[in-house]
Amino acid sequence: MKILVTGGAGYIGSHACLELLEAGYEVIVIDNLSNSKEESLTRVQELTDKELKFYKADLLDREALDKVFKEQAIDAVMHFAGLKAVGESVSMPLGYYHNNITGTLMLCEAMKKHGVRDLVFSSSATVYGDPDRVPITEDFPLRATNPYGQTKLMIEQILQDLHVADDSFNIAILRYFNPIGAHKSGRIGEDPNGIPNNLVPYITQVASGKMRELRVFGDDYPTPDGTGVRDYIHVVDLVLGHLKALDKLQTNPGVVIYNLGTGQGYSVLEMVDAFSKVVGKPIPYKVTDRRQGDIPTCFADPTKAKKELSWTATMGLTQMCEDSWRWQSNNPDGY
Ligand code: NAD
Ligand code: WQD
Repeated sequence: MKILVTGGAGYIGSHACLELLEAGYEVIVIDNLSNSKEESLTRVQELTDKELKFYKADLLDREALDKVFKEQAIDAVMHFAGLKAVGESVSMPLGYYHNNITGTLMLCEAMKKHGVRDLVFSSSATVYGDPDRVPITEDFPLRATNPYGQTKLMIEQILQDLHVADDSFNIAILRYFNPIGAHKSGRIGEDPNGIPNNLVPYITQVASGKMRELRVFGDDYPTPDGTGVRDYIHVVDLVLGHLKALDKLQTNPGVVIYNLGTGQGYSVLEMVDAFSKVVGKPIPYKVTDRRQGDIPTCFADPTKAKKELSWTATMGLTQMCEDSWRWQSNNPDGY
């Protein structure tokens, strides 16, 4: 089977390419490299000793997209391409709406035109906003609190409407919780531009001496130690959920929606503690004000994915920290 991976050079996409190749799929990647390097794909090919086909192209470029679908007999699409920085989306809403939504529209049009009907989409737990309770099930009310989250919500709606109009489309909407970690080789991983926005890349950069100290955004939340609680999931577990979703699409399920999380929440201070143990030295931090838009607690109920996809996350916190740290220490400046 030939799988088109949009955004395949990025953090999650590169791990997906690796697991797809390992599982015997043919892989075609489209990425405009706006937030990634081609080196990730070179390393994926080295690690698997298999080849993939890379098109440096933008989803907004209709002709380029058409060319890919013409040249390759694509069977299914995994759609990771998108901009993902919450803060940036607040200052650049038009850019985010255009890239993420128009990009997805172009992709779906190309799929329609070329008779490709199976799609796995990267959504996010951000679509639950600040949930009334935890753990979060897929039927919780949806609300976005920033333009990035709005793009995910809108795309989910667009994909559902697409299926209503043409029920030959099968679509798996996967709502990721907080992906961290890296492939065990330490050769591919998350390579943020500039100062990291997310907790784990920030911690690993503090541990490696690139950043002086972590700022813990608030310790007065209604959580056991006052710091924010999240459901961190190993990126390899996460992408294995995509392979299961791909299998599910072969049963013509229509639109299916799954949380991909572990079901276990950890606080910021628990993460700091876990990393200190793995790194073998304390991670310096200071508590600062809350970050605007943050919620106290977010973790998944992953039961539906377990039941319907036979998928469950298997890697624990220590392994996530070890793998994040191996990537960071072997690649202090990223790719
Ligand atoms: P990433 O930035 O590492 O990867 C996204 C890739 O898409 C990049 O390689 C980028 O160059 C590419 N891209 C962006 N716009 C494009 C366009 N118009 N045309 C072609 N390529 C384009 O991000 P990631 O962490 O790997 O995230 C992948 C997907 O998962 C995104 O859709 C993101 O919103 C979603 N997601 C990520 C997280 C997370 O915490 N990392 C959580 C939930 C959902
Ligand atoms: C985790 C916890 C922070 C950085 C974001 C997006 C979400 C999804 C995943 C794409 C929180 C605290 C963080 C720091 C800190 N992405 N923190 N100091 O905010 O849960 O989710 O990434 O879909 O949409 O919003 O992840 O890693 O930024 O924060 O104290 O320097 O760490 O307050 O409690 P978040 P995060």
